[in-house]
Amino acid sequence: MIIAVDGPTASGKGTVSKALAAHFGLPHLDTGLLYRAVGYQVSLNGGEADNPEDALAATTFPDDLLDEPELRSEEVGGLASRVSVHPAVRAALFERQRAFATQPGGAVLDGRDIGTVIAPEAEVKLFITASVTARAKRRWLEMTGREIDISLDEIEAQIARRDMRDRSREDAPLRAAEGAVVIDTSAMNKDESIAAAIAAVNEAT
Ligand code: C5P
Repeated sequence: MIIAVDGPTASGKGTVSKALAAHFGLPHLDTGLLYRAVGYQVSLNGGEADNPEDALAATTFPDDLLDEPELRSEEVGGLASRVSVHPAVRAALFERQRAFATQPGGAVLDGRDIGTVIAPEAEVKLFITASVTARAKRRWLEMTGREIDISLDEIEAQIARRDMRDRSREDAPLRAAEGAVVIDTSAMNKDESIAAAIAAVNEAT
């Protein structure tokens, strides 16, 4: 069984995907981390995220870069969003994601284009979303918890910018796949979001 989970930033798709993987005993790939590694590698190379050649060169990042804590930062999230518009970058990361999706026994993958591009044949497709305000509040709570000094307005602006870039790019824009179950987590806490996702998977299979 392939479970494809897509959605915008801070929608809860990462949390939901990890919980689905544990519940159904499937391996999980956070594909955003691959784009984050490319974004971070571009900066290590002294390159420009908006430059397609620089971004493509960074797709040969070493595997241990995926363990780098800095990859989780909002700054690297922004770089990831910029490198991910280049079709050559998406093509370079395709095989790795495809191989993970098609391993025997199935898998859970989360990202922006899992149900549309990476595994359109997935038995279960979920689109996890939430209002910009709800997502900004979550991110703000998480960041202030880590003692990062940032205003709610600034986070809301960052999220809106990233959404716009992810939704408007020509290659593999963020959108719900055909037949995807849309789960709006704006008014749900973590446990409710997970329960809704497990119920959706059970219903679809
Ligand atoms: O999910 P996460 O916030 O870690 O993703 C970082 C960025 O990587 C996204 O904003 C998006 O631009 C890009 N991405 C993508 N396709 C995916 C996963 C992430 O374009 N499958």
